[in-house]
Amino acid sequence: MVSRLKPCVSIAFDEKQLEEVVSKAKDWALMHGACMRSKTQFNSDALQFAPFVLIPSTFPRKQFEKAIYLQPIVNELIHAVANNHEFLKRSLAVTITVDPFTAELYNIYETVRSENSSQPIALGLLRSDVMLSDVIPGAQSSIPLSQKYQQRQVEVNTIAAGFGWLGPASGHLHRIVMEELSHGDKVTQMPENRALENLAGGMLKAWELYNRANAAILFVIEEVTYNICDQRFHEFEIRRQNPNVRVIRRNLTELGRGAAQLGPNKELIVDGSEIAVVYFRCGYSPDQYPSTDRCEWNARLLIERSKAIKCPNIAYHLAGTKKIQQTLAQPGVVEEILKDEDKARALRECFTGLYSLDLNDEGDRASEMAIQDPERFVLKPQREGGGNNVYGLEVKTTIERLRDSHERAAYILMDVIKPPLLRNWMIRPGSEPVLEDTISELGIFGVILGNSKEIFYNSVGGHMLRTKLHTANEGGVAAGLGALDSPFLVD
Ligand SMILES: Nc1ncnc2c1ncn2[C@@H]1O[C@H](COP(=O)(O)OP(=O)(O)OP(=O)(O)O)[C@@H](O)[C@H]1O
Ligand SMILES: [Mg+2]
Repeated sequence: MVSRLKPCVSIAFDEKQLEEVVSKAKDWALMHGACMRSKTQFNSDALQFAPFVLIPSTFPRKQFEKAIYLQPIVNELIHAVANNHEFLKRSLAVTITVDPFTAELYNIYETVRSENSSQPIALGLLRSDVMLSDVIPGAQSSIPLSQKYQQRQVEVNTIAAGFGWLGPASGHLHRIVMEELSHGDKVTQMPENRALENLAGGMLKAWELYNRANAAILFVIEEVTYNICDQRFHEFEIRRQNPNVRVIRRNLTELGRGAAQLGPNKELIVDGSEIAVVYFRCGYSPDQYPSTDRCEWNARLLIERSKAIKCPNIAYHLAGTKKIQQTLAQPGVVEEILKDEDKARALRECFTGLYSLDLNDEGDRASEMAIQDPERFVLKPQREGGGNNVYGLEVKTTIERLRDSHERAAYILMDVIKPPLLRNWMIRPGSEPVLEDTISELGIFGVILGNSKEIFYNSVGGHMLRTKLHTANEGGVAAGLGALDSPFLVD
């Protein structure tokens, strides 16, 4: 039976009321930068509002609070993984023989390690994504939502985790909508969201540790940035918090074609400016390293060799791979890494089934299980950025095709999480509002700053909620599948 949550307010509007509130919400979004650049009619001088759902989505309060509580532990786990050479090496040993992209990253990691990394401090601006799962299907409505639903972790993003602006912006937008709908009394059920302040603040904490008054922060960006508000607002917030700090934006190709150089003491110099902190919003996908002369890879290595503080450094990037996630889920592993039973138990409660597809008995068993019941699983390669995972019947055909091929080990297998449905109005640029069955994914930001010996700062950063049609496999908003949302907490 499909599980369903109740909308936080009635969504049965008459035509006029709907038209009025939607056009006001769209204008608010446009006027406050809840926006993106259009992919189909690209114009760097124009913005479109980002797709959004009209009202905030019901979310069990206790599960929200639990996700917030867990985030510093997630941060600590990722930090511990990134600083555990033996573990990274062991976990990725097979993957790097079959996945060339992970192998490139791993080579940079080993190269810089053998040279004695010139910057021991790393900054993590992470985002842990979870979905609700109905653990008492078919239960009566009298059961508290927080018992009926448990969160299951989708993954932890350690590079280019977006929505630090669009997350809080969605909450502001929904407050306006709720007030317009005469539900202003209920906005107290919408949690405060200081993601932008906290992420920018994290970069500034790293900048202060670097301790050079004139040094800038470098944003490593894509060739074309569609999700521009989610980067520029960070830049403006950095200036607001510290007017002396300048942000420079460059893509990897520019950096690799001469813009970036190393100074005599391994300072990262970009077009004449010393860089204190490098914030990667790009570099997580093979197509972001397009040049045959490998200039983008050269830039990545040069940055890694430099004494700028990286967000993420290469070890943090590797710590966010799907293979590491799958390895951590094996019995005893989080426990071994965290060295704290209570924390490990709390995290493990949120894991769903993750299975290795290495070419051994264990991988064969997982393959067989997926071929028997492909709809129960999602097949994931070592990629970020959406659109790479395999779902449904294709899980079966892909595994059958890879049977006995080493390439199978480049993937991991994961149980599909089935979040409850919720009805909402989906608002997209250029389309009429449509009433849809949706599902949501909550992302919690984490900020962590430290070196291999010490953690200087470890905190929750705020949240974001992304919602998509219940029929969509993936929910990337920039990819046009998902919509901005914010949580409405209920007991
Ligand atoms: N086990 C799962 N059960 C249900 N849905 C899933 C599962 N794993 C992934 N998804 C859906 O697919 C999306 C992308 O998956 P995932 O986060 O693993 O890939 P990604 O390429 O790293 O994406 P992103 O760019 O969001 O980091 C998720 O946001 C979620 O909507
Ligand atoms: Mg990801």
